Amino acid sequence: MCGIVGYIGKEDAKEILLQGLEKLEYRGYDSAGLALCNEKGITVIKEKGRIADLRGAVPLDIQATIGIGHTRWATHGVPNKENAHPHQSESGRFTLVHNGVIENYHLLQQTYLQQVQLKSETDTEVIVQLIEKFVKDGMPTEEAFRHTLRLVHGSYAIAMLDADEPETIFIAKNKSPLLLGVGKGFNVVASDAMAMRQVTDQFVELHDQEIVFVRKNEMMITTLDGTIIQRDPFTAEIDMSDIEKGTYPHYMMKEMDEQPGIIRKISQQYEDENGELTIDTAVLKAIMNADRLYIIAAGTSYHAGLIGKQYIEKMAGIPVEVHISSEFGYNLPLLSEKPLFLFITQSGETADSRQVLVKVKAMGYPTLTLTNVSGSTLSREADYTLLLHAGPEIAVASTKAYTAQLAVLAIIAYVTGKAQGKVQHFNLKKELAITANAIQTLVDAKETFEEIAHEFLATARNAFFLGRNLDFYVSLEGALKLKEISYIQAEGFAGGELKHGTIALIEEGTPIFALATQQAVALNIRGNVKEVVARGAHACIIAMEGVEEAEDRFILPHVHELLTPLISVIPLQLISYYAALQRGCDVDKPRNLAKSVTVE
Ligand code: F6R
Repeated sequence: MCGIVGYIGKEDAKEILLQGLEKLEYRGYDSAGLALCNEKGITVIKEKGRIADLRGAVPLDIQATIGIGHTRWATHGVPNKENAHPHQSESGRFTLVHNGVIENYHLLQQTYLQQVQLKSETDTEVIVQLIEKFVKDGMPTEEAFRHTLRLVHGSYAIAMLDADEPETIFIAKNKSPLLLGVGKGFNVVASDAMAMRQVTDQFVELHDQEIVFVRKNEMMITTLDGTIIQRDPFTAEIDMSDIEKGTYPHYMMKEMDEQPGIIRKISQQYEDENGELTIDTAVLKAIMNADRLYIIAAGTSYHAGLIGKQYIEKMAGIPVEVHISSEFGYNLPLLSEKPLFLFITQSGETADSRQVLVKVKAMGYPTLTLTNVSGSTLSREADYTLLLHAGPEIAVASTKAYTAQLAVLAIIAYVTGKAQGKVQHFNLKKELAITANAIQTLVDAKETFEEIAHEFLATARNAFFLGRNLDFYVSLEGALKLKEISYIQAEGFAGGELKHGTIALIEEGTPIFALATQQAVALNIRGNVKEVVARGAHACIIAMEGVEEAEDRFILPHVHELLTPLISVIPLQLISYYAALQRGCDVDKPRNLAKSVTVE
């Protein structure tokens, strides 16, 4: 959460920084700011709201070749101009942007800054005021920077300007993501490579507790205690068309439309030279060595994990537990003798999941990350990584990453099952190809889902998603999609469980979306729908060909029963999209959210 950029070179910094912040807006979008440094000194411009608001506030005639910028997702203090970054020290000499949370900021303020009048409610301001205090006490800037970071507990990605040393950007990283970008006659910093891809494709990774002094023609990476580190750049394989919206009205629509192609691409990426599905042999070995898999994830990725458990248990015969990452780390269950931890995370940066990774690694257990972002923190820190190959997902609501997670989880389960002789008479590659075609049919039927959204949700205050078996897990995801982008309160429920209390909420006109794709429970879910319809609910049944009935509102094309989650989620994504649009919501950037949740 929060995005950071910095530029030092020869060009006009403000445009490069603003473009970078626009690419980082998915990380937070409640306020934003820039600090631009030229011969007249440092100018700070901040605005509440989006980058577009900041852009409007930046004077066109200001020229600067050095600058830092920030887009915020508020943690400490409401989103307003005062709490927006950059923050400045009392004298204005130091200017700093920060992503992360300083856990001991209050103690630091009490201990060192009693005499300083803070201007904001943020934890960040304490860092910049501390640096100035130590400089006033006689330390050179570099030493004061290091000294402050040694005192700070928590997560941070920091970029700082010193008005007295304007040829350097001071950088530090711990737990929050930050990359250096290398150019000819300039250097940049950014929370991710997409933000600076327009000026360079050469990036240098930073590790936790590293400090960097970035100048126009050089950058020096050191540890907190001053040891110099040499690290080569890597080439960021990002296609600019992947991060542009093109002719689409929203990233979410573009990303939903990409799903058939992604499923086909995943099939190819996980193919061996004989065209058979495969996964890295070291990963396969690690899975087969385990007596139990522990899937750790949050939000949509957690929902994918619930389905992954079914795949792995059914195809590979290995027991799986699925845990919400923010709970797991602080309430460890009894572990099996030979566990393997599987982290599912689109971004690879989710702090809740990462704290579990750090803990279980310290306990000596093997770890595997399933992520969309190669080189992300959870990918680098786990023993093994498998990639989703979904391309950058920019809309805050996850769509294509979810279906990609399901496809790769199915491949993991299938390949493991085959290696153990447990999968027979089932050709996953063929079934995935059929599934990709079915997804295409569904994304081509947009108008129907627009009509359904209008019919069922135009005036709705709440909604229920019902399913049994695999459909239940998809209904959890459907409810999350609807609430996060349309702000309609929604709950995903196991069809049979509703009558044990929650049915009390059903009243005349309550919208119900029921999935019926599973043969074994098709009659049961229909019975559950009848129970709520009898109490006034307005039911939209989405069933699969083969189990359909006259009462159904939409029939999904037939796919293998295990792969139904990949198709039944598509109508729910599209219905949520249109419901949000019809209510005038900002589909790509829903209120209060951020794409990459890098605080616990
Ligand atoms: C919802 C959504 C979130 C994320 C969650 C975990 O649409 O995207 O629920 O799934 O914040 O993020 P990752 O997968 O990046 O760890």
